[in-house]
Amino acid sequence: MSNLQQVSVPRRVRIVGVLLASVALAACSRPTRNQIMHGGGDADRGKVAIQTYGCGACHSIPGIAGAHGQVGPPLDHWSKRVYIAGEVPNTEDFLIRWIEVPEATEPKTAMPMLGVTEGSARDIAAYLYSIR
Ligand code: HEC
Repeated sequence: MSNLQQVSVPRRVRIVGVLLASVALAACSRPTRNQIMHGGGDADRGKVAIQTYGCGACHSIPGIAGAHGQVGPPLDHWSKRVYIAGEVPNTEDFLIRWIEVPEATEPKTAMPMLGVTEGSARDIAAYLYSIR
């Protein structure tokens, strides 16, 4: 005769709903840096221009196919960068100037002038600032 053990019913642990402090879901009304700085530039066109000018040969750039270059610094989290090439504040005007004529900002820079037009530089800047 087998020794049947009474299986004790496991105690059910009931998870009582956790009362969360109500989270303020109101959208931040402060304009983001991108909204302030992106007058004129079109990030979608900028994405295409980045490919056309071959920035990805030297930079790794999120969202750009094949952009894994290691010659220059990676451009990830660009919207959060404080300086451009450690020289000037990361504002739209300085960035556009950097993209058009890097040596105007840093005479000995290894980044070449690629003949980027002002319009394309503006679009590229818009794309770079969309990188969070
Ligand atoms: C031949 C390689 C090369 C190409 C092509 C190139 N760059 Fe650069 N880039 C560099 C180097 C090297 C630096 C670092 C410059 C310095 O600090 O003096 C740099 C720096 C930068 C910076 C500043 C990075 C930082 O961390 O401050 C940005 C932004 C940038 N490049 C954007 C671009 C864009 C946009 C293109 C395409 C239009 C491009 N680069 C094409 C080599 C290149």
